[in-house]
Amino acid sequence: MKNVKLDRHPLPPGSTGWPIIGETLEYLGTAKKGVPENFVLDRINKYLSSAGNSCKVFKTSLLLQDMAVLCTAGGNKFLFSNEEKLVKSWWPAYLDKLIVGNSEKTLNITEESNRFRMILAPYLKPAGLQKYIGTMDSVTKKYLVTYWDHKDQVKVHQHAKKYAFTLACKLMLDTEDPQLLGKLQRILKDLSSGFTALPIDLPGTTFNRAIRASRQLREEIEKIVVERRIKLSTASANSMVDDGDHGDMLSSLLSLLMEETYSDGKQITESEIADKLYGLIVAGHDSISSALTTIMMYLAELPQVYDAVLKEQMEIANSKAAGELLNWGDVQKMKYSWSVACEAMRLLPPSLGTFREATTDFVYEGHLIPKGMKLHWHPHSTHKNPECFPNPEKFDPSRFEGQGPPPFAFVPFGGGPRMCPGKEYARLKILVFMHNVVTKYKWDKVFSDEKFIWTPVLLPTKGLPIKLFPHNKSK
Ligand code: HEM
Repeated sequence: MKNVKLDRHPLPPGSTGWPIIGETLEYLGTAKKGVPENFVLDRINKYLSSAGNSCKVFKTSLLLQDMAVLCTAGGNKFLFSNEEKLVKSWWPAYLDKLIVGNSEKTLNITEESNRFRMILAPYLKPAGLQKYIGTMDSVTKKYLVTYWDHKDQVKVHQHAKKYAFTLACKLMLDTEDPQLLGKLQRILKDLSSGFTALPIDLPGTTFNRAIRASRQLREEIEKIVVERRIKLSTASANSMVDDGDHGDMLSSLLSLLMEETYSDGKQITESEIADKLYGLIVAGHDSISSALTTIMMYLAELPQVYDAVLKEQMEIANSKAAGELLNWGDVQKMKYSWSVACEAMRLLPPSLGTFREATTDFVYEGHLIPKGMKLHWHPHSTHKNPECFPNPEKFDPSRFEGQGPPPFAFVPFGGGPRMCPGKEYARLKILVFMHNVVTKYKWDKVFSDEKFIWTPVLLPTKGLPIKLFPHNKSK
């Protein structure tokens, strides 16, 4: 039965645009021009008069759905704190096809996915990740020696993707075999193209190729999981001491999961473990590569910022013995570097926000949000708002010092129970990378006017080629 009192409230102001496609083209168009904030800010200004003196929510239609866009820090707080109360996570169906690749499963939340999230959580939290910092450092050092040391010029975005994947495979699958890595990377490239393609699943389309790549990648990961599980089972059958700590997450996770069962007594299968590892590898891949690329861009453009990061990182480097790898304590000292990374993610957030679905009728800021309506939070609406970040176009890492930005204004990783579970992993990976690149090189952009756009993946229009100047050679 409809709640008559709620029905008295109007829907948020706004237009659902064209039939079927709604305002999707304008939304994607502003992102592709590198100004996604214009989609939100134009509408906030347009609907000011109908919403009183501030527009906190507007209605639109995106991705074939009627949608309310919440556009303040308060809106972010409302969405993030009402997860599983008034709203639940929602993903467009085409993403289900790419990330889940199986019509019976969904990215949307199930009891099983929540439980698995809880099992994985300790591995992705600071305490669980600390022991992998040395591995991250040694893989990064090796990567730069192999691919950057003998080059005058490199394309940052391409390398950020390759580096992020190499590290993810080492940590999550314990594999460094160049042949296997090359094969997996080719599959991942096909899969990634699907995120920016038209979601038309017909033979020969980019989207169709991406769905096949998704299946292939999962199968390859499952083979690795099965092999490792047999190895661990054999070791325990032979009563060999194996605490599951092989310096990678796969072994630790398998050792734990071999003893775990679901509430109905069923054991967690290799295929389910492979699914989750696949999810972790794929979910963060584009975001972390984009973040590394934007940081490199700002460090090239802003010599004073570069100098301050170099100073911080050299103090850490100089405190280490020859050949000694980075550890947790070192990363905790990289405060200014992390402020720089945050400021890069404020101005160029890798994700354009995600979606929720109203699970019941409710009223938000005087407007009815009917059950089933989709809701969208968009980082640019606060990241570029002068009330949250004065002089928002200025690159100013000091915004993250002291008390930092107002609550729920800085949201590159989302928030609430569905906040990115890879946030801490991403932080460590970014800082270890920054340490290694700044202590080895200075660099210049090849194209001074190169822009970043969202397709919706955030990327530089020309791949961000840079000229490298190793510190041990003069410029
Ligand atoms: C700079 C890097 C990254 C950024 C900016 C980022 C951003 C995000 C955002 C905005 C969300 C949605 C949160 C929400 O809806 O409230 C998300 C979800 C997610 N991220 Fe990340 N992410 C990054 C790296 C990673 C990494 C490295 C991993 C894997 C280790 C990862 C795994 C995930 C997963 C599995 C989800 C889905 C969570 C769920 O639905 O419960 N992310 N990320």
